[in-house]
Amino acid sequence: MMTMDRIGVLTSGADAPGMNAAIRSVVRSGVYYGVEMVGIKYGFQGLLNESLEKMDASSVGSIIQRGGTILQSYTCDEIYTDAGQEKAIENLHKQGIDSLVVIGGREDLAVAASLQKKDFPCVGIPATIDNDIPGVAEAIGFDTGLNTIIDYIDRIRDTASSHEKSSIIEVMGRDTGNLALWSGLAGGAENILIPEKKEDMNTIIEQIKSGPSRDKRYSIIIVAEGSGVSGIDLNTRLKEEAGIESRVTVLGHTQRGGAPTARDRVLASRLGAHAIDLLLAQESGKVVGLKNNKLVSHTFEEVTSQMSKIDEGMYELSGRLSI
Ligand code: F6P
Repeated sequence: MMTMDRIGVLTSGADAPGMNAAIRSVVRSGVYYGVEMVGIKYGFQGLLNESLEKMDASSVGSIIQRGGTILQSYTCDEIYTDAGQEKAIENLHKQGIDSLVVIGGREDLAVAASLQKKDFPCVGIPATIDNDIPGVAEAIGFDTGLNTIIDYIDRIRDTASSHEKSSIIEVMGRDTGNLALWSGLAGGAENILIPEKKEDMNTIIEQIKSGPSRDKRYSIIIVAEGSGVSGIDLNTRLKEEAGIESRVTVLGHTQRGGAPTARDRVLASRLGAHAIDLLLAQESGKVVGLKNNKLVSHTFEEVTSQMSKIDEGMYELSGRLSI
């Protein structure tokens, strides 16, 4: 095992529940091996501004259960430029930081990949409620986001069934449909609209309209924000084209907040420790993950060079179960 004097850690992009549990694990694992740990505030912006703080075991006390990120996050455009990345590396050297752990989503891991390419050792930890990182089975925050959505679907179903009135629920996921697909399947939705499947709107409206002939008095329709139609537009079309009165709920940022589930806390704890193990073994240039409940690592290339895919079988199943 190589000696590393100082390791930096930052969270970047959209926050995800479980990021704090990951920070805790990274910091305590480093401290356990005698490494000096440095927290970088405000993501990559903090790296450019040198907004750093030394962290020890107690800096990460009582955060495992908290949503958000104690290191804050920020959208930093400069870090996507060559000059920004060079400045970041210069600042890291100036601060005596030998390597960096980046906790974040697709774009954030892509920045880590660029820093690595410029010879600065980095390891990435996938964290995003969207679960849209190619090759990574489960990102930190996905399970919590899903459970939050399901809680809302169940609540909305109570009132939808009482009034026999359809409900449209718009969920996040950016340009991908994993959140919508998983929550729709778990919430027993009649229709799930996702970007990966461009369904004909007329067919969907016909399906909803024909619900009563199949003894369905109301429908729960999950719309991914990136599906090409908003929940509000679908509501208008249902009313105007089929005379169906429905209600819309846009879950928005409720999906990103809240205490991480036990699953996310365990995932974050395992991935955080694995990130430090890789750096100390001089195996940077990787993104940590779990496969079949075993710790694995992916190359930056694997996770940044393609788009994530949905599980086709799950999509087919959701249609079969909503007859
Ligand atoms: O990536 C997480 C996410 O919550 C997406 O699902 C969503 O599209 C986006 O972030 C929203 O970002 P913002 O908070 O900047 O509006």
